[in-house]
Amino acid sequence: MPSADPQPVIAQLTRAAIFLVATVGPEPSGDAAVRAVCSDLASLVRAVGFRDLDGRLSCVVGVGSGAWDRIFDAPRPKGLHPFREIRGQHHAVSTPGDVLFHIRAARMDLCFELATEIMSRLGGAVSVVDEVHGFNYFDDRDLIGFVDGTENPTGQAAIDAVVVGDEDAEFAGGSYVIVQKYLHDLTRWNDLPVAEQERIIGRHKLSDVELDDAVKPTYAHNALTTIVENGEELDIVRDNMPFGDVGKGEFGTYFIGYARSPHRIEQMLENMFVGRPPGNYDRLLDFSRAVTGTLFFVPSATFLDQLASAAPPSSDVQRASVSTRADSSSSSRPSNDGSLRIGSLKTKDRP
Ligand code: HEM
Repeated sequence: MPSADPQPVIAQLTRAAIFLVATVGPEPSGDAAVRAVCSDLASLVRAVGFRDLDGRLSCVVGVGSGAWDRIFDAPRPKGLHPFREIRGQHHAVSTPGDVLFHIRAARMDLCFELATEIMSRLGGAVSVVDEVHGFNYFDDRDLIGFVDGTENPTGQAAIDAVVVGDEDAEFAGGSYVIVQKYLHDLTRWNDLPVAEQERIIGRHKLSDVELDDAVKPTYAHNALTTIVENGEELDIVRDNMPFGDVGKGEFGTYFIGYARSPHRIEQMLENMFVGRPPGNYDRLLDFSRAVTGTLFFVPSATFLDQLASAAPPSSDVQRASVSTRADSSSSSRPSNDGSLRIGSLKTKDRP
């Protein structure tokens, strides 16, 4: 069995990013257009990225639960479901999204160029429901002034945290990703004494050193997002980005977290929004409001490459474009002859 290469989910932190979340229109031609962009994404990134090889352009594409069957006509990843809203001390909303493009580079112009190319290929097939242009802020800080990303796993630990293995062999090499757009009330946050901000985050603001366990509250952000199951700490990989619009008084953090199972991120969210134990919630949420929330599956790069060779002939696409929605739902069932047969990829053994 060939091993499956992941998409570049573990890219180095970059200075710029664009997060594009879109819904796919009801016409089957929309599904075909997304499938075509997915299958050609690597070559698009190569073409735009070649203009500045030091620009480290990368793009990850993820597909949401509601669109998976329509777009791929393939079996479903085991853990793929719509983002589950949480109503606890605070509200984690669930918002629409069929496809996510997470574009990163050292320069915003590279991100912008790739986003433009992707959108021009998708044409009217999709509606962008959220577009955020993120930037790197002083010392890798977020807009609340704390260094963000310090405890991300690296190297093999990062791969183990985010890449699906034998637990879902058909989708080995893939990942799950959750995005949430947070808006901060910076006026109220900045009115807090720094010592109180540090207790909320669980780290010193200037030095970024973790608070000593003796003084760190159990509600600290980094305490509630540390989860241990069966003696093992379950990590995720984050690449949060600040964004904003000064004219509108909008200051935010775009949270993006990758994991080999959505459960890890969902458990962290439960701890933050409901509390661990319930009521002992994340005080950061008193100052930061989640205004979006969506879950996607990121298929392996190998899966995307195989789409190109398994793509239906253009006559099929044309036929699909004039067929009805009812046709499309029946075509979403795995077919005996037309299946992309991309569910049989296996990766190397991994715990
Ligand atoms: C307003 C949104 C958020 C902000 C501003 C924020 C900021 C931070 C900061 C400053 C740190 C400490 C430095 C670091 O280790 O990176 C941190 C740690 C962390 N955050 Fe967040 N975060 C946000 C949302 C989330 C969400 C939604 C999750 C997960 C569902 C999450 C998961 C984590 C994890 C796992 C850590 C590392 C904990 C550790 O092992 O010490 N964060 N975050």
